[in-house]
Amino acid sequence: MPATKIYLDTYGCQMNLYDGELVTSLLDADGFIMTHDEASADVILINTCAVRGHAEQRALGRLRTLAAQKRTRRELVVGVLGCMAENLRENLRDQIPGLDFVVGPDAYRQLPNLIQEQLNGHSGTFHYVHGAPNETYSEVPPLRREGVNAWVAIMRGCDNFCSYCIVPYVRGRERSRSPQEIISEVETAVAQGFPEVTLLGQNVNSYTWPDLDFPDLLGRVAEIKGLKRLQFITSHPKDLSDKLINRMASGGVLGASLHLPAQSGSDRILKAMNRGYTSADYLRIVDKLREAIPGLALTTDLLCGFPGETQEDLCQTLDLIRQARFDDAFTFKYSERPGTAAAKLEDDVPEKVKVERLERMIDLCRQLSHESRQKLVGRKVEVLIENPSPKNSAEWTGRTRCDRVAIVPGNFHRGESVTIKVAEVRGFSLWGNRI
Ligand code: SAH
Ligand code: SF4
Ligand code: F3S
Repeated sequence: MPATKIYLDTYGCQMNLYDGELVTSLLDADGFIMTHDEASADVILINTCAVRGHAEQRALGRLRTLAAQKRTRRELVVGVLGCMAENLRENLRDQIPGLDFVVGPDAYRQLPNLIQEQLNGHSGTFHYVHGAPNETYSEVPPLRREGVNAWVAIMRGCDNFCSYCIVPYVRGRERSRSPQEIISEVETAVAQGFPEVTLLGQNVNSYTWPDLDFPDLLGRVAEIKGLKRLQFITSHPKDLSDKLINRMASGGVLGASLHLPAQSGSDRILKAMNRGYTSADYLRIVDKLREAIPGLALTTDLLCGFPGETQEDLCQTLDLIRQARFDDAFTFKYSERPGTAAAKLEDDVPEKVKVERLERMIDLCRQLSHESRQKLVGRKVEVLIENPSPKNSAEWTGRTRCDRVAIVPGNFHRGESVTIKVAEVRGFSLWGNRI
């Protein structure tokens, strides 16, 4: 019998992408073949996100289309993975008849068996599988596509329970992986030809292991031979220590970029969000960071339209944006997530007002981000080369230490480190010749 071909599609954040690589590894070890051709696949897996209603609607739409295809592709097996799978569980069976199984983010070890059962003719028996609460996928080596950056999870789950957020409900309690495992995974990635590593966690600053905290871990990973660049996401402001700032300031392979979600500039709203800091606390951290790390690119997440948010609260967020001078920002409208603490509050900011506020945040952030790129014109920056430019075969693209996209004329190889002089800003990218 020919080997079973599996197509996997992943939505959501970097953690979900990393999980996709774990799934690929588990299936590969069991003899399944991963394919990029959806049309000829025997099994289609959709790895979903649940963070906003829109993310779920997209995934549901995709699953409905696949379930409909099963009428003509009778043998096709369709499985739902990821955060929406855990969020909606058995409800998915009623919403979309035809799905074969639903597997939460901590239950992927069971996937090969589940798929085999379906192929053996147990189709039609719907399964929901909830994972082990302490799962860290020890000894599952992620199977990555080729590239420059390798994701390495240092922890799973989240205990912060920001009142708007579904993640702690779908990814369970926070647990750290052992430093030995993390280091060995980074060493493997480097040996496989990935010069850049990004350490992942919902709140990396609360990483904990006996006698070792996150800045210590960073120090250990930074020493790994052959590693050219080390990044990490996401940092939570309430847990960002001076020790981390000092570690980042030591430079070396540590990139000069930090993603530090602020969410809001209104203390009233931050409190209702259960974020554990005030706007003044946030700005104090920003001052320290900017002073300690020259050329730092500070990025953030901002959320408008939280229940009870007024124009005044929004103005305070705009003030915070101006004072923090974010180099880039991801901006969102509040989306009520059933089951979260905030869902008990009335979602009282009208959609039209949310859109207006979102646009105001976007306009300001765009302007700051443009200014931040312009400031680099004339500067010498180091670029880690990634890919030939899709627009011009005589140029390559890469990323600077502050994680900006740069375009460099010439011929390079992936993973090469070059210094360029920035001549101009082209759209969202820097452009300059090698020096
Ligand atoms: N652990 C990370 C990522 C969380 S999800 C962190 O703490 O930053 C990424 C972003 O999605 C969040 O920072 C927040 O801005 C946004 N988000 C989370 N829940 C949301 C919701 N219910 N509606 C709109 N945006 C949300
Ligand atoms: Fe969600 Fe807050 Fe945890 Fe981030 S820290 S995943 S926003 S609960
Ligand atoms: Fe990530 Fe979405 Fe889950 S943001 S953790 S894939 S809910």
